Amino acid sequence: MSKILNEEAITLGTCYYPEHWDESLWREDLERMFSVGITTVRIAEFAWSKVEEKEGQFNFDFFDKFLDLTDELGMQVIMGTPTATPPAWLTEKYPDVLNAKKDGTLFRHGLRRHYNYNSENYKRLSKIIVEKFAEHYGKRKSVIGWQIDNEINCEIAEFYSESDDKAFNLFLQNKYKTLDALNDSWGTVFWNQTYTEWSEVHIPRTTVHENVNPHQTLDYYRFISDSACNFVKMQADIIRKYKKEDDFITTNGLFGHVDYQRMRDESLDFITYDSYPNFAYTFEGFDPNNESLRDRRWSMNLSETRAISPVFGIMEQQSGANGWNSRMAAPTPRPGQITLWTMQSIAHGADFISYFRWRTATFGTEMYWHGILDYSGRDNRRLKEIGDIDRKVKKLSPVSNGKYVAKVAVLKDYDNIFDSEYDVWHKSVEDESQKAIFAASQRTHTPIDYLYLTDYLGQSDSLLERLSKYDLLIYPHMTIVNESFLPALRKYVENGGKLLFACRSGYKDVTGECTMEKLPGKLKALTGCDIPEYSYIAPDMTDVHVKWGDDVFTASVFVDQLTLDRDSKETVDSKIIATYEDDYYKGYGALSVNKIGKGEVYYYGSAFNEESVKVFFDKLGVSNPFGKYFDLPKEIELAVRENANGKYAFILNYEKDAKTIKVKEKAFDLISEETVAGDIILPGYGVIVLKL
Ligand code: GAL
Repeated sequence: MSKILNEEAITLGTCYYPEHWDESLWREDLERMFSVGITTVRIAEFAWSKVEEKEGQFNFDFFDKFLDLTDELGMQVIMGTPTATPPAWLTEKYPDVLNAKKDGTLFRHGLRRHYNYNSENYKRLSKIIVEKFAEHYGKRKSVIGWQIDNEINCEIAEFYSESDDKAFNLFLQNKYKTLDALNDSWGTVFWNQTYTEWSEVHIPRTTVHENVNPHQTLDYYRFISDSACNFVKMQADIIRKYKKEDDFITTNGLFGHVDYQRMRDESLDFITYDSYPNFAYTFEGFDPNNESLRDRRWSMNLSETRAISPVFGIMEQQSGANGWNSRMAAPTPRPGQITLWTMQSIAHGADFISYFRWRTATFGTEMYWHGILDYSGRDNRRLKEIGDIDRKVKKLSPVSNGKYVAKVAVLKDYDNIFDSEYDVWHKSVEDESQKAIFAASQRTHTPIDYLYLTDYLGQSDSLLERLSKYDLLIYPHMTIVNESFLPALRKYVENGGKLLFACRSGYKDVTGECTMEKLPGKLKALTGCDIPEYSYIAPDMTDVHVKWGDDVFTASVFVDQLTLDRDSKETVDSKIIATYEDDYYKGYGALSVNKIGKGEVYYYGSAFNEESVKVFFDKLGVSNPFGKYFDLPKEIELAVRENANGKYAFILNYEKDAKTIKVKEKAFDLISEETVAGDIILPGYGVIVLKL
């Protein structure tokens, strides 16, 4: 069993860089960590040269000394593998290790993540260093787990080195077997892109308008994900040979072009997330109207993390101001915000919180990225707040291993995520809908989960089982239809579930080619609708209204004009239940419903906005499921975790000012250890946790 996600307690850690500090500080630092409740440190993820100073010259003295101390003091250690920062001797001798810009310019030594996953030299040298780390430190008493690399695909999620070019070519040969199949899947007859030899096939390269064949781009993003997953698996397989049985393997962060579902299933025990909600207060990132929900928006990232690991850890939780020397300047978290953000992580499923970082670096690119302590290391307000957090978190032990409670899930898959990046028709509806669903769920206190559909690997729980936990599944824009997902979706509906699609669904296959079938293509049988015409809402158009019973709301971005499909026997029960009210769309269906078995499939012809999502939540009976317990202002977040001990509601105030909430039934407040009821004033940045 994992030592940090252990079903017994929520624990605290910090990121420590012994290589940044004089050895004389180590003992005192570790002892001070204990004094504020920190019992785990993550180390070594950028420290390759401390173990292999020159190629093949290994010396373990440095971390041995540090681990002697952690063994002695009883501090738990998460060991990082150091592959995020290849040493200078390595990139100088083997430049094929470097990543490159699209035009081929190499990213040189001097920052981090300057390597690529496909260089044979890098794979070889990474294997050696990981093996050395794992072999030497695997059985160390204080080591409790391993972090692979650091933030896979952070800084940059595209790779254009010669090694990637070669590997992409092989990836495609393996996938398509023949050039004819590749030419067909990529539609290369368009603009005379037809390939006649495998040697002509490359990763996307500089083109006019930087615009590359879309089918090639889709395969390229899949390839990046495949490369990242393979690199992590290569390390996980090595670590697994040497680690102690109960020690875990994780990697941190969520970044672009990675199928994390696959990575977790293949290589990791769980994922950890790096949570920096203070990005909402950077000078570039601040939203004066709070439309974006500012730091509360990190709940979306935490929900994404939960989709990959239902209970997870935070490897880096913000504890000070942001700032590289060159960018991302932001203020110091105000009193109470570190606590709020810690509780936000816990509310969404984190049982381990490790603060970034113990001491602020006095040198280097991140000299303004503050940790708990400032440069001098003297006691400060933030250290005191961590101590307070520890006292609170200890009282939350009964919550540990609790699963987040949601009756609504937003479905996703990586093909559609990748497609929505380079296809602006997809992106414009996707971005709008995702933002709206999240914001509406937050402001109406309707918790949601994200759920990734995947056919890559067998899962312990089948897809249908995972879907069946929810009353409503929203697949906003299933543009690409992977037909292997359809049987489970249909069965979910037959069993009584509600499934909701929105515009631009069903018109592409897995190569990204548009269908010649009537729209919504492969979703026609499920939805029972037909889309004879569609359009972006023109920029010179005023609002397009949708009327659904007594509710009228505005459409967003796009209009699929719906009629009913009567081509097949299965769809005779479909109905139009809402219509457009304006322009030449007037009278056309805006929403259809198809009854299948005990459930329903809805097709909404536009993209979502907050207003329309609220109507859907109401009409489909999923809005505010904890309304019988609380009246909460929209500025307050509600999250509920449940385990064998019961249900625990986290109520979080992201505002500077106090807010009044109403607790309708008496409930036990875990932190104050009092029973509360009625109107309660939640101070600015305040959090309460109530047992329901
Ligand atoms: C994370 C990274 C850390 C540190 C931190 C602050 O993305 O893992 O190493 O850079 O951000 O910038």
